[in-house]
Amino acid sequence: MRAVVIEQAGLPTSVEELLIDEPREGEVAVRMTASGVCHSDLHVRDGEWPRPGPIILGHEGAGIVDAVGPGVTTLRPGQQVVLTWYYPCLRCRNCQEGRQWICTGSRSLQHRAADGTSRARRADGSSVLAYLSIGTMAERAVVPADAAIPIPDAVAPEVAALIGCCVSTGVGAVLKTADVPAGASVVVFGLGGVGLSVVMGAVLAGATRIVAVDRVAAKLDMAAEFGATHLVQASDPDATVSAIREAAGPDGIDFAFEAIGLTSTVEQAIAVLPPGGTAVLVGMTPVGQRASFDVFPFVDGSRRIIGSNYGFAVAANDFPLYADLHLAGRLPIDRLVEATIGIDDVEDAFDRMRRGEGLRRVIRF
Ligand code: APR
Ligand code: ZN
Repeated sequence: MRAVVIEQAGLPTSVEELLIDEPREGEVAVRMTASGVCHSDLHVRDGEWPRPGPIILGHEGAGIVDAVGPGVTTLRPGQQVVLTWYYPCLRCRNCQEGRQWICTGSRSLQHRAADGTSRARRADGSSVLAYLSIGTMAERAVVPADAAIPIPDAVAPEVAALIGCCVSTGVGAVLKTADVPAGASVVVFGLGGVGLSVVMGAVLAGATRIVAVDRVAAKLDMAAEFGATHLVQASDPDATVSAIREAAGPDGIDFAFEAIGLTSTVEQAIAVLPPGGTAVLVGMTPVGQRASFDVFPFVDGSRRIIGSNYGFAVAANDFPLYADLHLAGRLPIDRLVEATIGIDDVEDAFDRMRRGEGLRRVIRF
């Protein structure tokens, strides 16, 4: 199979021909149909997050179940599935209490199968890891059965792929992490696949004031099409914060979502909050960075900061829900897809993403 591989974090990708094993106990083989190019892949590509290698990139993908390993009763060949990049162990305390997004037993962060090995290898026999245990930028993926979530066939492959990361991360941050009520005012920093999904989630939740912020003007136009009510083009931090305060009206912002992963915009998301406001941190910074805020007014005004990993996703429940909302016309996920691309075009997609250009580019296999 062909796959997008990096030798180690920080080096360019190359498309390689790899071998992949059949699924073992508790695993399924998925013939991939689509994989989005997400900023988290770019963080790895650019060496901002240390990761082992060689590794198959990609963690936002969908496909068709091709074969099931021994003991798998929940899936059958031919089903369309979305892959979750944080498959749950279902046994740790967090899983047992329904907080799978902070499962402590998953092997996802080791980029390996549940038994600690990997299924892909080079012709010389050396093994190749799969990013977050799924490595979706490949023609085939062998994954734990709990990482493959069935969704209706009527969902287009590129839409299905985006449910696997940016949609769940952004929509879930609004509906699950923050539980935004109807009538709320929100601001969203960053209008990539994640930030525009926050806008979609805010519309779905009935937020009446949705302030969208990006440094790229074309992204603001996109946000307006998704339902943003006020647009702020980011400039220096103080000017951006005042423009947001003005757009927020007399009651101010109830929820500020940071969907970029920059310490400067994290600090702005905290700075725009009125008393009682909540900052929801969704974007991931390079590892090791710190942000700061004025402690006295923060405490005095009973403000809150919440970290939101994967939109608090319980994949088996939430992926089919987001798929159904899309089919019902209430989540226009298809409009996030700027273009479908080939497996050889990933470096070009990364270049565009670094410049903040365009929306999601999705590999079709
Ligand atoms: N101020 C405002 N907007 C900015 C700034 C800034 N200083 N810097 C970048 N942006 C905008 C870009 O123009 C772009 O529209 O932020 C957006 C980021 O979008 P993408 O690069 O497409 O990123 P996305 O895939 O949406 O991920 C966002 O969430 O999960 C994390 O790792 C992911 O940290 C990343 C974040
Ligand atoms: Zn992602």
